[in-house]
Amino acid sequence: MLTADQALGMIETLDIAVFRVETHSTPGDRASFLRVQNLARSVLGRYVYLEVGSHLGGSLFPHLIDPACGAVLSFDPRPTALPDERGEFIPYPENSTARMIAVLGEQLPASAMTKLTTFDSDVSAVLPEAASSKATLAFIDGVHTNQACFSDFVGVLKFMETDCIVCFHDANLIADAIINAERLLDHLGIAHETVFLPDTVAVIGLGAHASTVRDRLHPHSLERAAYLEHSQRKLWSHIAKVHSPELRAEIDRLRSETSRLAEKVARMRAERRLGARVSRIARRLFASLGKRADRIRRRLAR
Ligand SMILES: C[S@@+](CC[C@H](N)C(=O)[O-])C[C@H]1O[C@@H](n2cnc3c(N)ncnc32)[C@H](O)[C@@H]1O
Repeated sequence: MLTADQALGMIETLDIAVFRVETHSTPGDRASFLRVQNLARSVLGRYVYLEVGSHLGGSLFPHLIDPACGAVLSFDPRPTALPDERGEFIPYPENSTARMIAVLGEQLPASAMTKLTTFDSDVSAVLPEAASSKATLAFIDGVHTNQACFSDFVGVLKFMETDCIVCFHDANLIADAIINAERLLDHLGIAHETVFLPDTVAVIGLGAHASTVRDRLHPHSLERAAYLEHSQRKLWSHIAKVHSPELRAEIDRLRSETSRLAEKVARMRAERRLGARVSRIARRLFASLGKRADRIRRRLAR
């Protein structure tokens, strides 16, 4: 078990070995999480951490062990599978708060665990009074669709201090949610500044922390326009790849339907041609029968 002092040394040097519980993130993401945590520690002093989407608690761990973090709020309704913007469903078997607490409890002292309050719910469904203090640092890592992430951002705001920092994981998948969040902040007249950190972490500073985020994190950030454009292209090509077997099957189905219809049309045309021939023959037959009948009538009349 790490001591708080050992953990602090690792957090300050961006040593990602401090993540002692499994987390769904790349090494680059983990270094960025620690960079944001260091910013919170130095600028906010004692901070309250709020997380949307905790799974096994991997991203909660460095905050729970950090003495500068006074309280941790975790929102996770614990579904067994979740969609994401790539059009896939990701399974989350045995997803439960009890399991997360058991896993974290093996790596943390009881004093750290008492900081944790969990809500088995979507953040939008919880009233702000349910939390004993307002948060100053939030991390959104639940359902990775634009719709869900924007909803989480709106739901998180009621739990936050006016001057705060809100981060999104997998920013490459949910860039539209981040841009919508920025438009909402414009609409509300709240100053804000966004930076994109490697690999996929977006950080928005709100109110007084807009300039903090810009000044302190911009030197480590990725170029915004290039990042957004690259993310969009990768997302589209992933969607095309994921859905190509399905699209190919649909194309094959449409092709066989088209050839079935073409055969039906050809059959109907042939039937129509045959019908026209039959009626021509019938007309000729009736005409010649009529002539014969006339001749017989004339003969009988003589
Ligand atoms: C990618 S995992 C989170 C990983 C975690 N932050 C880490 O790095 O260790 C996504 C989590 O979001 C949770 N989730 C699903 N729907 C949610 C919602 N509406 N609000 C919050 N969390 C949700 C899932 O149960 C799952 O535990």
